[in-house]
Amino acid sequence: MIGPKDQLRRPLRDLRISLLDQCNFRCTYCMPVKKFHENYQFLKKNERLNHEEIIRLVKIVVPMGVSKIRLTGGEPLLDKNVAQLVEKINQIEGIEDLALTTNATLLKKKAQDLADAGLDRITISLDSIDQEIFYKMNGNRGNVSDVIEGIEAAEKAGLLPIKINTVVQRGVNEHTIIDLLEHFKGSGHIVRLIEFMDVGNQNNWNLKDVVTAKELLTMIQNKWPVSPVDKAYRGEVAKRYSYDDGSGEIGFITSVSKPFCGDCSRARLSADGVLYTCLFANHGTDIKELLRGDASDREIHNLFSKVWMARNDRYSETRKSYKPDESLKKIEMYRMGG
Ligand code: GTP
Ligand code: 5AD
Ligand code: SF4
Ligand code: SF4
Repeated sequence: MIGPKDQLRRPLRDLRISLLDQCNFRCTYCMPVKKFHENYQFLKKNERLNHEEIIRLVKIVVPMGVSKIRLTGGEPLLDKNVAQLVEKINQIEGIEDLALTTNATLLKKKAQDLADAGLDRITISLDSIDQEIFYKMNGNRGNVSDVIEGIEAAEKAGLLPIKINTVVQRGVNEHTIIDLLEHFKGSGHIVRLIEFMDVGNQNNWNLKDVVTAKELLTMIQNKWPVSPVDKAYRGEVAKRYSYDDGSGEIGFITSVSKPFCGDCSRARLSADGVLYTCLFANHGTDIKELLRGDASDREIHNLFSKVWMARNDRYSETRKSYKPDESLKKIEMYRMGG
Protein backbone atom coordinates (compact mmCIF):
# COMPACT_ATOMS: atom_id res chain seq x y z
CA MET A 1 0.00 0.00 0.00
CA ILE A 2 1.30 3.42 -0.91
CA GLY A 3 1.74 6.36 1.41
CA PRO A 4 2.79 7.06 4.96
CA LYS A 5 1.60 5.04 7.94
CA ASP A 6 1.02 6.58 11.33
CA GLN A 7 2.41 5.33 14.65
CA LEU A 8 -0.37 2.73 14.83
CA ARG A 9 0.32 1.61 11.22
CA ARG A 10 -2.81 3.27 9.86
CA PRO A 11 -2.63 4.64 6.29
CA LEU A 12 -4.09 7.98 5.18
CA ARG A 13 -7.04 7.40 2.84
CA ASP A 14 -9.64 10.00 3.55
CA LEU A 15 -9.42 13.81 3.61
CA ARG A 16 -12.37 15.77 4.99
CA ILE A 17 -12.29 19.38 3.90
CA SER A 18 -14.26 22.09 5.67
CA LEU A 19 -15.13 24.82 3.17
CA LEU A 20 -16.30 27.40 5.67
CA ASP A 21 -17.09 27.68 9.36
CA GLN A 22 -20.49 29.34 8.85
CA CYS A 23 -23.81 27.56 9.01
CA ASN A 24 -27.46 28.55 8.64
CA PHE A 25 -28.33 26.20 11.54
CA ARG A 26 -27.43 26.49 15.19
CA CYS A 27 -27.49 22.88 16.36
CA THR A 28 -27.28 22.76 20.13
CA TYR A 29 -24.55 20.09 20.00
CA CYS A 30 -22.43 22.00 17.49
CA MET A 31 -23.03 25.78 17.37
CA PRO A 32 -25.29 26.70 20.30
CA VAL A 33 -27.06 29.96 19.47
CA LYS A 34 -26.02 31.59 22.73
CA LYS A 35 -22.40 31.56 21.68
CA PHE A 36 -22.88 31.75 17.90
CA HIS A 37 -25.06 34.87 17.92
CA GLU A 38 -25.65 37.49 15.23
CA ASN A 39 -22.37 39.26 15.90
CA TYR A 40 -20.21 36.18 16.16
CA GLN A 41 -17.06 36.63 14.08
CA PHE A 42 -16.67 33.77 11.64
CA LEU A 43 -13.59 33.50 9.44
CA LYS A 44 -13.25 36.23 6.87
CA LYS A 45 -13.06 35.21 3.23
CA ASN A 46 -9.31 35.79 2.97
CA GLU A 47 -8.73 33.74 6.11
CA ARG A 48 -10.31 30.71 4.43
CA LEU A 49 -8.53 28.57 1.88
CA ASN A 50 -9.68 29.48 -1.59
CA HIS A 51 -10.58 26.86 -4.18
CA GLU A 52 -7.21 27.00 -5.94
CA GLU A 53 -5.46 26.31 -2.63
CA ILE A 54 -7.80 23.41 -1.87
CA ILE A 55 -7.27 21.88 -5.30
CA ARG A 56 -3.50 22.23 -5.03
CA LEU A 57 -3.60 20.44 -1.70
CA VAL A 58 -5.81 17.61 -2.96
CA LYS A 59 -3.36 17.03 -5.81
CA ILE A 60 -0.53 16.90 -3.28
CA VAL A 61 -2.23 14.31 -1.03
CA VAL A 62 -3.45 11.88 -3.69
CA PRO A 63 0.02 10.34 -4.14
CA MET A 64 0.06 9.78 -0.35
CA GLY A 65 -2.90 7.39 -0.68
CA VAL A 66 -5.91 9.69 -0.35
CA SER A 67 -8.72 8.48 -2.61
CA LYS A 68 -11.71 9.73 -0.67
CA ILE A 69 -12.69 13.37 -0.24
CA ARG A 70 -15.59 14.68 1.81
CA LEU A 71 -16.58 18.34 1.68
CA THR A 72 -18.02 19.61 4.94
CA GLY A 73 -18.38 22.80 6.95
CA GLY A 74 -20.09 24.48 8.69
CA GLU A 75 -22.58 24.24 5.86
CA PRO A 76 -20.70 23.68 2.60
CA LEU A 77 -23.61 24.72 0.39
CA LEU A 78 -23.25 28.28 1.70
CA ASP A 79 -20.22 28.41 -0.59
CA LYS A 80 -21.87 29.75 -3.73
CA ASN A 81 -19.27 28.17 -6.00
CA VAL A 82 -19.22 24.73 -4.41
CA ALA A 83 -20.22 23.01 -7.67
CA GLN A 84 -17.21 24.52 -9.47
CA LEU A 85 -14.96 23.18 -6.73
CA VAL A 86 -16.55 19.74 -7.03
CA GLU A 87 -15.96 19.81 -10.77
CA LYS A 88 -12.27 20.55 -10.31
CA ILE A 89 -11.73 17.96 -7.57
CA ASN A 90 -13.54 15.40 -9.68
CA GLN A 91 -11.01 15.91 -12.45
CA ILE A 92 -8.12 14.95 -10.19
CA GLU A 93 -6.95 11.47 -11.02
CA GLY A 94 -7.01 9.11 -8.04
CA ILE A 95 -10.13 10.49 -6.34
CA GLU A 96 -12.48 7.53 -6.24
CA ASP A 97 -15.11 8.83 -3.87
CA LEU A 98 -16.23 12.46 -3.65
CA ALA A 99 -18.96 13.10 -1.08
CA LEU A 100 -20.47 16.09 0.72
CA THR A 101 -22.21 16.49 4.07
CA THR A 102 -25.02 19.07 4.26
CA ASN A 103 -28.05 20.03 6.30
CA ALA A 104 -29.89 20.04 2.93
CA THR A 105 -31.78 23.32 3.35
CA LEU A 106 -30.17 24.62 0.14
CA LEU A 107 -29.97 21.26 -1.59
CA LYS A 108 -33.14 21.41 -3.66
CA LYS A 109 -31.63 24.19 -5.77
CA LYS A 110 -28.12 22.75 -5.92
CA ALA A 111 -28.46 18.96 -6.20
CA GLN A 112 -28.47 18.76 -10.00
CA ASP A 113 -25.52 21.14 -10.39
CA LEU A 114 -23.54 19.13 -7.86
CA ALA A 115 -24.31 15.87 -9.65
CA ASP A 116 -23.44 17.42 -13.03
CA ALA A 117 -20.15 18.61 -11.56
CA GLY A 118 -19.27 15.04 -10.60
CA LEU A 119 -20.22 14.73 -6.94
CA ASP A 120 -20.65 11.00 -6.28
CA ARG A 121 -22.97 11.03 -3.29
CA ILE A 122 -24.37 13.07 -0.47
CA THR A 123 -24.88 12.74 3.28
CA ILE A 124 -27.63 14.70 4.97
CA SER A 125 -27.84 15.70 8.62
CA LEU A 126 -31.40 15.32 9.88
CA ASP A 127 -32.09 14.72 13.55
CA SER A 128 -35.87 14.44 13.50
CA ILE A 129 -38.78 14.68 11.09
CA ASP A 130 -40.88 16.17 13.87
CA GLN A 131 -40.71 19.91 13.14
CA GLU A 132 -40.73 20.90 16.80
CA ILE A 133 -37.89 18.60 17.75
CA PHE A 134 -36.03 19.61 14.59
CA TYR A 135 -36.29 23.27 15.69
CA LYS A 136 -35.28 22.41 19.22
CA MET A 137 -32.09 20.73 18.02
CA ASN A 138 -31.04 23.20 15.34
CA GLY A 139 -31.86 26.52 16.99
CA ASN A 140 -35.21 27.19 15.30
CA ARG A 141 -33.89 27.22 11.75
CA GLY A 142 -35.23 25.78 8.51
CA ASN A 143 -38.04 23.37 7.82
CA VAL A 144 -38.18 19.61 7.74
CA SER A 145 -40.07 19.91 4.45
CA ASP A 146 -37.12 21.76 2.83
CA VAL A 147 -34.77 18.99 3.94
CA ILE A 148 -37.10 16.32 2.57
CA GLU A 149 -37.37 18.20 -0.73
CA GLY A 150 -33.58 18.49 -0.78
CA ILE A 151 -33.29 14.74 -0.31
CA GLU A 152 -35.77 14.14 -3.13
CA ALA A 153 -33.80 16.43 -5.41
CA ALA A 154 -30.58 14.59 -4.55
CA GLU A 155 -32.23 11.27 -5.33
CA LYS A 156 -33.50 12.58 -8.66
CA ALA A 157 -30.02 13.85 -9.49
CA GLY A 158 -28.54 10.41 -8.71
CA LEU A 159 -26.38 11.42 -5.72
CA LEU A 160 -26.61 7.89 -4.37
CA PRO A 161 -26.48 6.24 -1.94
CA ILE A 162 -28.01 8.94 0.22
CA LYS A 163 -27.08 8.67 3.89
CA ILE A 164 -29.03 10.44 6.59
CA ASN A 165 -27.01 11.31 9.72
CA THR A 166 -29.08 11.50 12.90
CA VAL A 167 -27.49 12.51 16.18
CA VAL A 168 -29.43 10.96 19.05
CA GLN A 169 -29.66 12.74 22.41
CA ARG A 170 -31.38 11.26 25.40
CA GLY A 171 -34.66 12.94 26.25
CA VAL A 172 -34.42 15.18 23.19
CA ASN A 173 -35.10 13.21 19.99
CA GLU A 174 -34.84 9.55 20.95
CA HIS A 175 -38.64 9.25 20.98
CA THR A 176 -38.81 10.41 17.34
CA ILE A 177 -36.24 7.93 15.99
CA ILE A 178 -38.75 5.23 15.06
CA ASP A 179 -40.80 7.76 13.04
CA LEU A 180 -37.70 8.91 11.25
CA LEU A 181 -36.67 5.34 10.43
CA GLU A 182 -40.17 4.55 9.26
CA HIS A 183 -40.14 7.56 6.96
CA PHE A 184 -37.00 6.37 5.16
CA LYS A 185 -37.65 2.61 5.38
CA GLY A 186 -37.91 1.23 1.85
CA SER A 187 -36.59 4.45 0.26
CA GLY A 188 -33.10 3.12 -0.37
CA HIS A 189 -31.64 5.87 1.84
CA ILE A 190 -29.49 4.77 4.77
CA VAL A 191 -30.20 6.32 8.15
CA ARG A 192 -27.21 6.29 10.50
CA LEU A 193 -27.88 6.89 14.16
CA ILE A 194 -24.97 8.73 15.76
CA GLU A 195 -24.11 8.62 19.43
CA PHE A 196 -23.91 12.18 20.77
CA MET A 197 -20.19 12.94 20.99
CA ASP A 198 -18.02 15.17 23.15
CA VAL A 199 -16.56 17.10 20.23
CA GLY A 200 -15.40 20.63 21.05
CA ASN A 201 -16.17 22.30 24.35
CA GLN A 202 -19.44 24.11 23.77
CA ASN A 203 -22.06 21.40 23.72
CA ASN A 204 -22.36 20.50 27.41
CA TRP A 205 -21.72 16.88 26.62
CA ASN A 206 -22.57 14.41 29.32
CA LEU A 207 -22.29 10.65 29.10
CA LYS A 208 -25.79 10.26 30.47
CA ASP A 209 -27.19 12.06 27.39
CA VAL A 210 -25.72 9.46 25.06
CA VAL A 211 -28.20 6.86 23.84
CA THR A 212 -25.97 3.93 22.95
CA ALA A 213 -26.27 1.95 19.74
CA LYS A 214 -27.14 -1.06 21.88
CA GLU A 215 -30.15 0.71 23.37
CA LEU A 216 -31.24 1.94 19.95
CA LEU A 217 -30.85 -1.50 18.43
CA THR A 218 -33.08 -3.00 21.11
CA MET A 219 -35.69 -0.33 20.49
CA ILE A 220 -35.59 -0.96 16.73
CA GLN A 221 -35.59 -4.77 17.05
CA ASN A 222 -38.80 -4.52 19.05
CA LYS A 223 -40.47 -3.05 15.99
CA TRP A 224 -38.57 -4.41 13.00
CA PRO A 225 -36.07 -7.30 13.13
CA VAL A 226 -32.67 -6.31 11.71
CA SER A 227 -29.45 -8.26 11.15
CA PRO A 228 -25.82 -7.18 10.95
CA VAL A 229 -24.22 -6.67 7.55
CA ASP A 230 -20.48 -6.87 6.77
CA LYS A 231 -18.42 -3.71 6.54
CA ALA A 232 -18.47 -2.10 3.09
CA TYR A 233 -14.78 -1.18 3.42
CA ARG A 234 -11.96 -1.34 5.97
CA GLY A 235 -12.23 1.47 8.47
CA GLU A 236 -15.93 2.08 7.86
CA VAL A 237 -17.29 4.26 10.63
CA ALA A 238 -20.86 2.96 10.72
CA LYS A 239 -21.88 -0.50 11.91
CA ARG A 240 -24.36 -1.67 9.29
CA TYR A 241 -27.63 -3.55 9.73
CA SER A 242 -30.36 -4.47 7.26
CA TYR A 243 -34.07 -4.90 7.87
CA ASP A 244 -34.95 -8.59 7.71
CA ASP A 245 -38.00 -7.72 5.60
CA GLY A 246 -35.69 -6.47 2.85
CA SER A 247 -36.64 -2.82 3.16
CA GLY A 248 -33.13 -1.46 3.40
CA GLU A 249 -30.18 -0.68 5.58
CA ILE A 250 -29.44 1.38 8.68
CA GLY A 251 -26.21 2.11 10.55
CA PHE A 252 -24.92 3.02 13.98
CA ILE A 253 -21.99 5.31 14.69
CA THR A 254 -20.66 4.22 18.03
CA SER A 255 -17.87 6.63 18.78
CA VAL A 256 -18.73 6.55 22.50
CA SER A 257 -19.81 2.97 23.23
CA LYS A 258 -17.57 1.16 20.72
CA PRO A 259 -14.79 3.36 19.38
CA PHE A 260 -13.41 2.67 15.92
CA CYS A 261 -9.99 4.31 16.09
CA GLY A 262 -8.14 1.12 15.14
CA ASP A 263 -8.72 1.61 11.41
CA CYS A 264 -9.07 5.39 11.32
CA SER A 265 -7.53 6.69 8.11
CA ARG A 266 -9.12 10.15 8.19
CA ALA A 267 -7.44 13.55 8.19
CA ARG A 268 -9.34 16.82 8.47
CA LEU A 269 -8.56 20.18 6.95
CA SER A 270 -10.24 23.19 8.51
CA ALA A 271 -11.57 26.10 6.49
CA ASP A 272 -8.57 28.17 7.56
CA GLY A 273 -6.14 25.56 6.34
CA VAL A 274 -5.16 23.72 9.50
CA LEU A 275 -4.57 19.98 9.29
CA TYR A 276 -6.01 17.86 12.12
CA THR A 277 -5.45 14.16 12.55
CA CYS A 278 -8.33 13.51 14.94
CA LEU A 279 -11.87 14.82 15.36
CA PHE A 280 -11.04 15.46 19.00
CA ALA A 281 -7.71 17.15 18.42
CA ASN A 282 -6.65 20.11 20.50
CA HIS A 283 -4.03 21.29 18.07
CA GLY A 284 -3.30 21.11 14.36
CA THR A 285 -0.68 22.03 11.77
CA ASP A 286 -1.03 25.19 9.74
CA ILE A 287 -0.85 24.40 6.03
CA LYS A 288 -2.24 27.72 4.79
CA GLU A 289 0.97 29.54 5.65
CA LEU A 290 2.90 27.19 3.38
CA LEU A 291 0.31 27.40 0.62
CA ARG A 292 0.51 31.19 0.73
CA GLY A 293 4.28 31.33 1.10
CA ASP A 294 6.74 30.05 -1.44
CA ALA A 295 6.74 26.41 -0.32
CA SER A 296 6.93 23.86 -3.12
CA ASP A 297 4.46 21.01 -3.54
CA ARG A 298 7.21 18.66 -2.35
CA GLU A 299 7.66 20.65 0.87
CA ILE A 300 3.93 20.61 1.58
CA HIS A 301 3.80 16.89 0.80
CA ASN A 302 6.67 16.29 3.20
CA LEU A 303 5.02 18.22 6.02
CA PHE A 304 1.72 16.38 5.52
CA SER A 305 3.57 13.07 5.54
CA LYS A 306 5.57 13.97 8.61
CA VAL A 307 2.42 14.96 10.53
CA TRP A 308 0.68 11.73 9.52
CA MET A 309 3.66 9.56 10.46
CA ALA A 310 3.82 11.17 13.92
CA ARG A 311 0.11 10.57 14.53
CA ASN A 312 -0.96 8.38 17.42
CA ASP A 313 -4.51 9.68 17.97
CA ARG A 314 -7.12 7.35 19.41
CA TYR A 315 -9.20 9.72 21.46
CA SER A 316 -12.43 7.72 21.48
CA GLU A 317 -10.61 4.72 22.87
CA THR A 318 -9.00 6.76 25.63
CA ARG A 319 -11.67 9.38 26.45
CA LYS A 320 -12.48 7.82 29.80
CA SER A 321 -8.97 8.52 31.03
CA TYR A 322 -9.22 12.28 30.44
CA LYS A 323 -10.12 14.56 33.30
CA PRO A 324 -12.77 17.13 32.35
CA ASP A 325 -10.34 20.08 32.40
CA GLU A 326 -7.90 18.29 30.09
CA SER A 327 -10.41 18.14 27.28
CA LEU A 328 -11.27 21.82 27.54
CA LYS A 329 -9.08 22.87 24.65
CA LYS A 330 -10.58 20.72 21.87
CA ILE A 331 -11.20 22.35 18.50
CA GLU A 332 -14.88 22.88 17.65
CA MET A 333 -16.37 20.57 15.02
CA TYR A 334 -17.94 23.36 12.91
CA ARG A 335 -14.38 24.67 12.53
CA MET A 336 -12.60 21.42 11.85
CA GLY A 337 -15.33 19.83 9.76
CA GLY A 338 -17.35 16.74 10.68
P1 GTP B 1 -19.05 7.13 4.61
O1 GTP B 1 -17.90 7.51 3.77
O2 GTP B 1 -20.36 7.37 3.94
O3 GTP B 1 -18.93 5.78 5.20
O4 GTP B 1 -19.07 8.24 5.72
P2 GTP B 1 -18.65 8.19 7.20
O5 GTP B 1 -19.07 6.92 7.80
O6 GTP B 1 -17.24 8.64 7.31
O7 GTP B 1 -19.64 9.14 7.86
P3 GTP B 1 -19.89 10.67 7.92
O8 GTP B 1 -18.82 11.43 7.27
O9 GTP B 1 -21.25 10.88 7.44
O10 GTP B 1 -19.85 10.86 9.47
C1 GTP B 1 -20.91 10.42 10.25
C2 GTP B 1 -20.68 10.75 11.66
O11 GTP B 1 -19.59 10.02 12.15
C3 GTP B 1 -20.38 12.22 11.92
O12 GTP B 1 -20.99 12.61 13.12
C4 GTP B 1 -18.94 12.22 12.05
O13 GTP B 1 -18.46 13.27 12.79
C5 GTP B 1 -18.68 10.89 12.72
N1 GTP B 1 -17.35 10.51 12.36
C6 GTP B 1 -16.83 10.47 11.11
N2 GTP B 1 -15.55 10.16 11.17
C7 GTP B 1 -15.25 10.03 12.46
C8 GTP B 1 -14.06 9.75 13.16
O14 GTP B 1 -13.02 9.58 12.58
N3 GTP B 1 -14.14 9.68 14.52
C9 GTP B 1 -15.28 9.87 15.19
N4 GTP B 1 -15.25 9.76 16.49
N5 GTP B 1 -16.42 10.16 14.57
C10 GTP B 1 -16.40 10.25 13.23
N1 5AD C 1 -22.08 14.42 18.24
C1 5AD C 1 -22.41 13.61 17.22
N2 5AD C 1 -22.53 14.02 15.95
C2 5AD C 1 -22.31 15.31 15.71
N3 5AD C 1 -22.37 16.01 14.56
C3 5AD C 1 -22.05 17.29 14.82
N4 5AD C 1 -21.80 17.45 16.14
C4 5AD C 1 -21.96 16.22 16.71
C5 5AD C 1 -21.85 15.73 18.03
N5 5AD C 1 -21.52 16.52 19.04
C6 5AD C 1 -22.75 15.42 13.28
C7 5AD C 1 -23.76 16.22 12.52
C8 5AD C 1 -23.43 15.87 11.09
C9 5AD C 1 -22.05 15.35 11.12
C10 5AD C 1 -21.13 16.10 10.24
O1 5AD C 1 -21.64 15.40 12.44
O2 5AD C 1 -25.05 15.89 12.79
O3 5AD C 1 -24.28 14.89 10.59
FE1 SF4 D 1 -24.52 23.40 11.05
FE2 SF4 D 1 -24.01 20.80 10.85
FE3 SF4 D 1 -23.15 22.19 12.97
FE4 SF4 D 1 -25.75 21.72 12.68
S1 SF4 D 1 -24.14 20.15 12.97
S2 SF4 D 1 -24.80 23.70 13.24
S3 SF4 D 1 -26.00 21.79 10.47
S4 SF4 D 1 -22.49 22.48 10.87
FE1 SF4 E 1 -10.12 8.71 14.30
FE2 SF4 E 1 -9.84 10.34 16.39
FE3 SF4 E 1 -12.25 9.45 15.64
FE4 SF4 E 1 -10.50 7.78 16.78
S1 SF4 E 1 -11.45 9.55 17.74
S2 SF4 E 1 -11.78 7.37 14.98
S3 SF4 E 1 -8.58 8.56 15.91
S4 SF4 E 1 -10.90 10.79 14.46
